[in-house]
Amino acid sequence: MKRESKCIVAPSMLSADFSRAGEGLEEVNAAGADWVHLDVMDGLFVPNISFGPKFIADLKDKSTLPFDAHLMVQNPEPFIKEFADAGADYITVHAETVTHLHKVISSIHQAGVNAGISIVPSTPVSMIYQMLSDVELVLLMSVNPGFGGQSFIEFTFDKIRELDAYRTEHKLDFLISVDGGVTTHNAEKLYQSGVDVLVVGTTFFKSTDRSALVEALHAMNR
Ligand code: DX5
Ligand code: ZN
Repeated sequence: MKRESKCIVAPSMLSADFSRAGEGLEEVNAAGADWVHLDVMDGLFVPNISFGPKFIADLKDKSTLPFDAHLMVQNPEPFIKEFADAGADYITVHAETVTHLHKVISSIHQAGVNAGISIVPSTPVSMIYQMLSDVELVLLMSVNPGFGGQSFIEFTFDKIRELDAYRTEHKLDFLISVDGGVTTHNAEKLYQSGVDVLVVGTTFFKSTDRSALVEALHAMNR
């Protein structure tokens, strides 16, 4: 597949100050980031509650960047149209939360949105082999989902390499995203291992020079 010449930098709004979320999004725009990552949590699949479609819809007209909705919810299917209508350009569901994954991916596509599958650290990549020709994005969680600011789990590198090798072998086109504990220390190795999309929560919002951060991530070589 033709790889992007630069990594896609996707700041996570979970790490923004929710009382001034619009300004947080303006910071994402101004820093030259590529996507906006939106972590939806239901308090069931993960031990935290974040926000739903209205939050995404309210932010949508404040950015022209693609909206990357990561649904960490136990039963996402009934909400897919709502997230599509809210302005999500990618909707990613967790393989662990869905019994009929093929059907849910089809309903994301029917809603006119790019479809993604995510897996938590303990789920093997082989669990989603069957679905890899049907999705535009695979999001590998590199922390146990629920909170920003956790440490990167090192065995994620093995999963990235496995997924990248599968993609090459089967001539597939999906993007590989990594989410959780991404820092300036591990970003280049992640990119070189096959990652296309770097989700950055704490690293982005705690940075004192966000434009320089994005520029440095864009300058990484494969
Ligand atoms: C965790 C979320 C992540 C999180 C990343 O459950 O899916 O997107 O916000 O935050 P950092 O980059 O701080 O690990
Ligand atoms: Zn996420």
